[in-house]
Amino acid sequence: LSANAGRVPPTRRRFAGQHPLTDRTVTIGGRAWTLTAVEDQDALIGSVRTDADLEQFPYGLLLWASAIALAERLAEEPRLVAGKRVLELGAGVGLPGLVAQSLGGRVTQTDYQNDALTLARVNARQNGVDGVRYVLADWRDFNTGATPGPFDVILGSDVLYERGLHGALRRIFDTALAPGGLVLLADPLRPQGIEFADALERTESWVLALESRRVRWEASQRDSPCCFPQRGGICQ
Ligand SMILES: C[S@@+](CC[C@H](N)C(=O)[O-])C[C@H]1O[C@@H](n2cnc3c(N)ncnc32)[C@H](O)[C@@H]1O
Repeated sequence: LSANAGRVPPTRRRFAGQHPLTDRTVTIGGRAWTLTAVEDQDALIGSVRTDADLEQFPYGLLLWASAIALAERLAEEPRLVAGKRVLELGAGVGLPGLVAQSLGGRVTQTDYQNDALTLARVNARQNGVDGVRYVLADWRDFNTGATPGPFDVILGSDVLYERGLHGALRRIFDTALAPGGLVLLADPLRPQGIEFADALERTESWVLALESRRVRWEASQRDSPCCFPQRGGICQ
């Protein structure tokens, strides 16, 4: 018997009362990734009763289908991130950023929920991914000092659901992205996401490319398109 037999790892112990965790395996680019996230996604989503619940909702403790779409897209074309400075916004449990780091990107993962970044760290460790930087950062007050840019690539999966935050995201794109840089977003085709893409396309400074893909994921199976705005350049 090992000395640790029967011990609950500290992270699981911390989350156990309110948000029991489970491990799921997803295969991206032929590699199996084990991801720790909230176990009962429906129960967590069903716990939202009031606007205040919604404001505090720990979205980042779930793995969303868009994360799988974006991670798959990166694995299909590693040059998008290889050797690049990569900023992930709203990283949650961290799959796209982990895949980007494993493909040779130099990734900074950010979120405003400390618990989400804790799970992103756990997921990096258990998948043998080193070197990711983690920064607690709110889009509404994004401290570029703590997340020194510019970045060649900005990643975001399922980050467009709150219309009131679109302006903040746009400001981060404008300030943190290097000239000619690439923003890679995945969204489950919510109206809010389409509005965001539409508004970007109407500006002179962005070129958009849209793709659609079907994602197989036990928690949901939806079309989750990837959207590729790029400033001042030809689309991928
Ligand atoms: C729907 S979840 C997506 C999580 C992860 N990207 C995925 O696809 O699995 C949205 C993420 O955005 C983060 N987020 C929401 N509002 C934010 C804000 N104002 N500043 C920073 N992160 C925010 C949440 O904490 C959460 O991790």
